[in-house]
Amino acid sequence: MITRVSGLLYGADYNPEQWPEPVWERDAKLMGEAGVTMVTLGVFSWARLQPAEQEWDFGWLDRLLDLFHAHGIAVDLATATASPPAWFVRRYPQTLPVTADGVRLEFGSRQHYCPSSPIYRAAATRLARAVAERYREHPALALWHIHNEYGDHVTECFCAESARDFRRWLRDRYSDDIGQLNFAWGTEFWAQRYSHFEEIEPPRRAPGPVNPGQLLDWRRFSSDALLACFLAERAVLKEVTPQVPVTTNFMSMMKDLDYWTWAAHEDVVSDDAYPDPADASAHVAAAMNYDLMRSLGGGRPWLLLEQAPSAVSWRAVNVPKPPELRRLWSVQTVARGADGVMHFQWRASRAGAEKFHSALLPHGGTGTRGWRETVRLGAELKLLAEVAGSRSQSAVAIVLDWNSWWALEAEDHPSARVRLKEQILSWYAELYARNVAVDFVPPDAEPAGYRLVLAPNLYSVSRENAGRLAEYVRGGGQLVCGFFSGIVDELDHVHQGIDGLDGGYPGPLTELLGVAVDEWWPIPDGEAVAVEIGGRSWPATRWSEWVETTGAEVVGRYRRGVLAGRPAVTRNAFGAGGAWYVSCDLGGAEGSGEQAGGGPLGDSGGGSSGTSSSGISTSMVGSTGIGAVLSAALAAAGVGPVLPGLPAGVEVTCRRSDSHSYYFLLNHNDREVSLAAAPADAVDLLTGGRPSHLAAHGVAVLKQGR
Ligand code: GAL
Repeated sequence: MITRVSGLLYGADYNPEQWPEPVWERDAKLMGEAGVTMVTLGVFSWARLQPAEQEWDFGWLDRLLDLFHAHGIAVDLATATASPPAWFVRRYPQTLPVTADGVRLEFGSRQHYCPSSPIYRAAATRLARAVAERYREHPALALWHIHNEYGDHVTECFCAESARDFRRWLRDRYSDDIGQLNFAWGTEFWAQRYSHFEEIEPPRRAPGPVNPGQLLDWRRFSSDALLACFLAERAVLKEVTPQVPVTTNFMSMMKDLDYWTWAAHEDVVSDDAYPDPADASAHVAAAMNYDLMRSLGGGRPWLLLEQAPSAVSWRAVNVPKPPELRRLWSVQTVARGADGVMHFQWRASRAGAEKFHSALLPHGGTGTRGWRETVRLGAELKLLAEVAGSRSQSAVAIVLDWNSWWALEAEDHPSARVRLKEQILSWYAELYARNVAVDFVPPDAEPAGYRLVLAPNLYSVSRENAGRLAEYVRGGGQLVCGFFSGIVDELDHVHQGIDGLDGGYPGPLTELLGVAVDEWWPIPDGEAVAVEIGGRSWPATRWSEWVETTGAEVVGRYRRGVLAGRPAVTRNAFGAGGAWYVSCDLGGAEGSGEQAGGGPLGDSGGGSSGTSSSGISTSMVGSTGIGAVLSAALAAAGVGPVLPGLPAGVEVTCRRSDSHSYYFLLNHNDREVSLAAAPADAVDLLTGGRPSHLAAHGVAVLKQGR
């Protein structure tokens, strides 16, 4: 159980300040009808709770908590600190955030605060304390919801206070030694040398590219500055109510915050997920985000704290969820480890910025399709109650390193087109299509428990972490490493040899991968280069490399252009395991490689067909080149799907309790499919039978004894 509430949590943000009190009573009753078990209260209530600096008004919130308790509904109570009131901003205008161009952002939206402001932090922790002390004993309180979506709207602030905080952070990082900072930032280049920490400012708008070391530290600092806000509130809550779990809602795989460092301080990892119904493959990226959330909590059940019941209101075109999609996507979160499905928001607003955002109770009230779906989902989540607390197992891990992500996407690199999330997604999508379970791990994780480790990109890697990967492979693990890896250390300095001079790529991964990269060969926009793997041609886009093997065998070769005939994909037998290197972006679908020297391979020599000694055969390839490589790596690692033989487009996951396995079968096709390949001796928790088919966008949760 992630809170004291048993079963799967179901509910929404409730913003009752918008309605007269009689509506609250009605809403509580309707929540009962819908099977709601938890509401999130107070997320944007600061102005109501503290109408003036020395004035508090808790009466209305007292009545709400009492009301929900009387209806048996638990409360996820927010500390309400995400949006300071107008009086606060006018009294302390210096707390408003400032952009890199020096523009101070105004009051009138939300999330308008400087993370480094001691005035803001003091006011926020004062409010958190007032709320905590008021409700410490309240029986409705089940979960603390600290702030809301840290990093939403404002991820960094460039004001004078932030500058002071940045300098403090730097003094701490570099042991008060400006020489260390100068070395780390490489300030001898372009005459950027500092004599004192006081000379340093945030990376505000400058005439040209800003020092990359400064930018990288700024990103680290900005994540830490928001984390400090979170930790300050958390400390208050832990002091007043040590028994109540805390969370703060994450924003899926978000670049700005290093969620590994954040999640370590959460009792419950929670996420806000808004996949776009207009995007036919949105469920794939969604699955990736959910796997990340589960992994951030070390495999513990997590909580979907917000999703839209139907359309959002903040895209250019806001497409609603067609019938069945809300159900399918909701159960998908449970399939990937969520123990609750919450929404934004309960009752549709009649005014304000989000009045056209869907809600569990639409403007049209209880006569609508939306409401019927709300009631149905609540009833179905009750049927799934027993899966709460169960966990899943993965034999494959993907390395995700925020520091490397930040460094990779800095300016003035060989190509501005390389984006880590896209790379990871293209690899993830191939595992997803094969129904292979996967976890995410941080770069310093001990990978020994996995049979296959994937590093779609490790631009920045420490010698220590590279050494750990080498030990893993030596001991029998399989590793697949993507292009432009092993390039820099934690300081974003290019890896060099022991003497600090001659080095070469891929730095500390060279021996493990058995290759030397002579030069990077980014591929111009709109072009592709054919790569032959296992007798088939696949398009490489965005990136290629001049690779020389120093021990690895060649698994795939470039077929055209300057690199024609050179290695593109390699595998190095290393100790008892194998280390693959993919020197290009093979995430593009077959058929997109016909331009600019691409073209099918069957027309010329040089291509071997059948099975190579690396285990890649024509029959194993997936829908992209990276799929072909991953198929072979999965085979080498002996890793298969959660369930084999299911029709394409059917997602399957498995959660296990001590006594049972729960197979989640999710049909993302818009046609019926057969479930012949699913376990016969299992019963669907939703229907009580063993379905032979799944309807279009249908769902089954098959329970099997262990
Ligand atoms: C989230 C936010 C909610 C609401 C929702 C729908 O980002 O936390 O308060 O705005 O999006 O747009």
